Amino acid sequence: MTTTIKWLGHYSFEIKSQGQTILVDPFLNDNPVATVAAEDLEADYILVTHGHADHVADVASIANRTGATVVAPVEAAGWFQSQQGVENTLQLNLGGGVTLPFGHVRMTIAHHSSSMPDGSYGGNPAGYIISFPEGRVYFSGDTALFLEMELYGREAIDLAILCIGDHFTMGPKDSIEAIKLLQPAKVVPAHYNTWPPIEQDAEQWASQVESLTSATPVVLEVNGVIEL
Ligand code: NI
Ligand code: MN
Repeated sequence: MTTTIKWLGHYSFEIKSQGQTILVDPFLNDNPVATVAAEDLEADYILVTHGHADHVADVASIANRTGATVVAPVEAAGWFQSQQGVENTLQLNLGGGVTLPFGHVRMTIAHHSSSMPDGSYGGNPAGYIISFPEGRVYFSGDTALFLEMELYGREAIDLAILCIGDHFTMGPKDSIEAIKLLQPAKVVPAHYNTWPPIEQDAEQWASQVESLTSATPVVLEVNGVIEL
């Protein structure tokens, strides 16, 4: 078996693992860089890091069409259920985990904010560590740099998917510090080049990663795939 992770643009990903399709933060139809429409995606699970529209815009439509289970911070999951008609939700909170058919999913801390598109309270923002049979992946979600990343790094992370856009999240410079703490084998940048405020030079970032950390940077094109 393999686990493949496709970057759909911004912080949206499509994961195929153990016969399951997992989406992370699907934001497609209003995403200026995405080329895949929400209507064209299938899903068994949808993982949500927080309530901002650039992470949840297409969650409900995909979940309601496919029957996918929405995994999200408690308050965000409750909002999808009560306000968006999503039938299957799995509510996690920070530090908590659950074993799903493709592996173990744990909700990690993130220093950010979280409100739902209608202004409802979204609970705490989060990230995820997913332990697939083929390797462990850390999705930072939207976050600032934080020192507890060092603790996550003790778990042998094969791949870290980090925001590098700056402005709303940590930028390239802090992402280098994050990589030093996390010590992943590989690192993929995300949450950049969607709009002008978060434009970044990914190749320049990659050369910094190579010279300053022990991780291998993997810069994906939109719809590019990395395999565990
Ligand atoms: Ni956000
Ligand atoms: Mn965001």
